[in-house]
Amino acid sequence: MGIQKRLVGSYFVVSLITVMILEIILITFVHYYFNNNVERILTNQAELSASFFHQYFDAEDLEQQSERLLKGFSENSNAQVQIIQANGTLLQSTTGERIGEILNDFEDVQEASLGKVGIWRGFDDSTHEALLAVSYPLKSQETTVGVVRFVTSLTETIKTINYISAIFISIGLFVLAIVAVLGVLVSRTITGSIKELKIAAEKMAEGDFAVTIKKRYRDELGTLADTLNMMASKIRRNEKLKNDFISSISHELRTPLTSIKGWAVTLKSDGGNGKLLLEDGLDIIETESDRLTCLVDELLDLSKLDNGRMELYCTPLHLNELLEHIRKQLAPRAARQRVSLDVHVDRHMPVIHADENRLKQVLINLLDNSLKFTSSGGIINVNAQVDKALRQVIISVEDTGSGIAEQELNNVFQMFYKGNNNQAGSGLGLSISRQIINLHHGEMKLYSQFGKGTKIEIYLPV
Ligand SMILES: Nc1ncnc2c1ncn2[C@@H]1O[C@H](COP(=O)(O)OP(=O)(O)OP(=O)(O)O)[C@@H](O)[C@H]1O
Ligand SMILES: [Mg+2]
Repeated sequence: MGIQKRLVGSYFVVSLITVMILEIILITFVHYYFNNNVERILTNQAELSASFFHQYFDAEDLEQQSERLLKGFSENSNAQVQIIQANGTLLQSTTGERIGEILNDFEDVQEASLGKVGIWRGFDDSTHEALLAVSYPLKSQETTVGVVRFVTSLTETIKTINYISAIFISIGLFVLAIVAVLGVLVSRTITGSIKELKIAAEKMAEGDFAVTIKKRYRDELGTLADTLNMMASKIRRNEKLKNDFISSISHELRTPLTSIKGWAVTLKSDGGNGKLLLEDGLDIIETESDRLTCLVDELLDLSKLDNGRMELYCTPLHLNELLEHIRKQLAPRAARQRVSLDVHVDRHMPVIHADENRLKQVLINLLDNSLKFTSSGGIINVNAQVDKALRQVIISVEDTGSGIAEQELNNVFQMFYKGNNNQAGSGLGLSISRQIINLHHGEMKLYSQFGKGTKIEIYLPV
C-alpha cells in the first residue's frame, strides 16, 4: 500500500473513531433528555392531579365524581387521562375507549394501586405507537381509592430524537468528508516530495548525478533532499577530481617521458660520437627518471594514505639531529640559489615519537616549496620549539618568498593544486605532508601573505 493511502487511511480511521464516539455520546444524551422530559411532565401532571383530589375530593365517592375529576385533570394536559378504581376498573378516559375494562395488566396501574408512583413504557398494538404511562395513587385518608393515569404517545418525541440524531450524523459525515479531502491534500504534500526524491534517487542510481532535487519544505524530507543534493555534488566533484587526477598524472608523466625519449633518439642518431653530448643526455635522462620515480612514489603514498594503508614506523626521534641532517642536505641548493637557510632548535627539545622517514619527507617537502618559491636574497627559517604546557613540539618553516594569495590559501592542500607559479611541481607535496602529520595525530597550519612570505607550522604531540 502506498504512503498516501496509508496516511489518508490513518487520518480517516482516527477521525471515524472520534466522530463515532462523539455521536454515540450525543445521541444517547438526546435520547435520555427528551424521554426524561416527557416522563417528568407526565409525572408532574399526575402528581398535581393527585394532590388536587386529595385536597378537594377526599371525602367524595370516586365513581360519582369521576366525570368532574376527569375534566379537571385533563384541562392542562395533552395526554390521555384515565381514572381507574382501586380494583383496576377503568372509570373514565378522555378518549372514552375501553371504559369498564380492568387495567390491572399494566405494571404502572398495579404499582399505583399499591400506593406508589408507577411508570410504564410500552407499545400499542392497534396504533403501532410507543406509549408512556404514569400512574399516581388517589388517596383518601391514607388509603388508595383509585388511580389517575396519564398516557401519552412517544411518536413525536421519537421523531424529534430521530431528527436531531440525523442532523448529528450528517454533521459527522460532513466532518469525515472534510477530513478525507484534507487528508488527501495534506498527504499529497508529503508524497509529492517523496516521489520527487524517489525519482531523483533512481536517476542517481543510474549514474546521473546532474539532477538536483527541489527542496519544498524545511522538514525531514527537505533535509533528505539537501543531503541527496550534497551527495550528488560531492560525487560530481569526485568524478571531476578523478578526471583531473588522470589528466594531471598523464601530463606529469608525459613531460619527463618526452624528454627521455627525445634524448634517447638524439643519442642514437649521434652514434655516441660526441662524449660531451652523451654525458649531458645521460644526465638529463637520469634526472628525468628520478623525477618519474619521485612522482610514482608520491602517487603510491597518496593511494596508501587514501586507503588508510599507510603505516607509520614510529621510533624515538631527536628533532635536532633530523633537522641538522636536512639542513646539510639542502644547504648546497640554498647556497646555489643564494637563499639563506637557518635552522634553530630549542635546547631542551624532548625526544618525540614519530616515523623518521615520513617526517623527513614532510620537512623536505616544505623546504623544497620554500626554496622553489623564494628568490635569491631571501631567507628561510626553520624553528623547532617545545610547548611544555600542551605537551607538544612546534616546527615552523618560514620563508620570505612569493607568498600565497588569500583566495588560494584554502586550495593549496588539495591534491594537484598548484598556484599560477611556473616553479610548481605536481601539486601533491602539501596534500601528502598534511595527511602524514594528521596520521601522527598532529596538525599543520599555513599562514601566508602574498608577496611577503609563507609560514607553515607543524604541531606534534610529545
Ligand atoms: N612556501 C610557499 N610559498 C609560496 N607558495 C607556496 C609555498 N608552498 C606552497 N605554495 C603553493 O602551493 C602549491 C601547492 O604546493 P605543493 O607542495 O602541494 O605542490 P608543488 O610544490 O607545486 O608540487 P610538489 O610538492 O608535488 O612537487 C604550490 O604549487 C604553490 O603555488
Ligand atoms: Mg611542494
